[in-house]
Amino acid sequence: MSENVQEQVARHNIEWVDDWHRPQYHFMPPANWLNDPNGLIYWQGQYHLFYQYNSKAPIWGNIEWGHAASQDLVHWQDWPIALSPTPGTADADGCWSGVIVNNNDTPTLIYTGWRNRTQLPCLATSDDGLLTWQKYQGNPIITAPPPELEVSGFRDHCIWQEAGVWYQIIGTGFKAGGGAVLLYSSPDLIHWQYEHIFAAGDPGLDRDIWECPDFFRLGDTYVLLISSTAFQQSWYYLGDYVHHKFVPYSQGRLDAGGCMYAPQTILDKQGRRLLWGWLREERAIEAQKTAGWSGAMTVPLELSIQSGQGGKRLNLNPIRELEALRYDHCQFKDLTIAGVSFQKLADVGGECLEIVAEFEAGQLDEYGLVLRCALNASEYTRIVYNADQKTLTIDRSHSSLDSAAQSTTPSVTLEVADHENLRLHVLLDSSIIEIFANQGIYLSSRLYPTHPQSLGVGLFTNSSHVRLKQLDVWKISSIWPPVQRI
Ligand code: FRU
Repeated sequence: MSENVQEQVARHNIEWVDDWHRPQYHFMPPANWLNDPNGLIYWQGQYHLFYQYNSKAPIWGNIEWGHAASQDLVHWQDWPIALSPTPGTADADGCWSGVIVNNNDTPTLIYTGWRNRTQLPCLATSDDGLLTWQKYQGNPIITAPPPELEVSGFRDHCIWQEAGVWYQIIGTGFKAGGGAVLLYSSPDLIHWQYEHIFAAGDPGLDRDIWECPDFFRLGDTYVLLISSTAFQQSWYYLGDYVHHKFVPYSQGRLDAGGCMYAPQTILDKQGRRLLWGWLREERAIEAQKTAGWSGAMTVPLELSIQSGQGGKRLNLNPIRELEALRYDHCQFKDLTIAGVSFQKLADVGGECLEIVAEFEAGQLDEYGLVLRCALNASEYTRIVYNADQKTLTIDRSHSSLDSAAQSTTPSVTLEVADHENLRLHVLLDSSIIEIFANQGIYLSSRLYPTHPQSLGVGLFTNSSHVRLKQLDVWKISSIWPPVQRI
């Protein structure tokens, strides 16, 4: 009898118990490859997370829709694969990204079918609570991009309803240059009419495609998320929604760390706008193949708009439900550090940690946290705030002795006012680091220390006097079922 998905998860949990790079509380598939989150929906008491999945190898290819569900947004149960390519049809070469909407109680999934280098929207429905999906016989539901536009991509979807009409945006790029999003409308999700260009990027960017568009209102602000193939980065645009067009007035990087890509959002049952993104690996493909897994989701992130002197900004923060995973709390108060490259914190360390550090306002020079530090300091990662340049950097130049692990140092401008404390909220999960600086500037990155004992945590500064108001550290438990060794 073939193994079911739960048995597969249990087997890999044992097989990978000593893999200290494998995340423990970020969602991952049972094995192999994951990319974009898809089809986020709350259905009959559970949140469903689908994702781009290669169940056969830890590399991109043979793309299906993996599926998992959760009641608490923290622990996930794997469900069987939801969609796989059907030979001879519009998705013969892959079931690419898409969404699920509730059409009068019929869950309806719209995704990109990939066949012979052609990308076209396809539809499927479920009548057994999202477990199995029946593909619409008339797929594809849009048979070509608008003929008047010369496009180089036509994929990924966001769908909403307004006054009884369905609207859909699809990501694209113009052969003449620039990414864009196209708007369609439909009475029934099957018959679609092209309306107009919904939003467009810089035409000077040759070969850019805007992938994975997502559009929603957050308070009184309209938000468009896109992932740009030219930059390999996801951007947010804040703007107005006028005559069914998006008119942006500001933009920013969703992830200043640059690891997260292709996010998708959902409005949860409490009215929060939650986002998941794909955290890419940042080490050699050979290492991913050896590991047997590649790619993880961000933790669920709650979006909010912050208005300040510099205008509006989109903030990302971890959902509070994750606090349920905390244990072994340590707290330090009113520490002074002076001119040290690494002041180790006694009895603190680990692969899976949550750290909240608050440095007092008005400090000078450079200071910050040291993580994943080896006993002999041959490997360590620094989170560096430079008070003069007003930058926050993940310094990975010594994160790993493995030269194939990325060692770039992603950085973001972080203006901390003279009276304001610097607050660093860090989620560390094996090879994943996510940082939330001053309530919402998000940076994600990957760390692959080569020693299992590179676990130390500490502080550093090159200044003569830095005051740390408070530091809280928790260990974070795994969300995977406990491994039972025989
Ligand atoms: C983004 C993306 C999407 C596409 C999917 C294919 O990472 O390229 O545009 O639908 O991945 O897996």
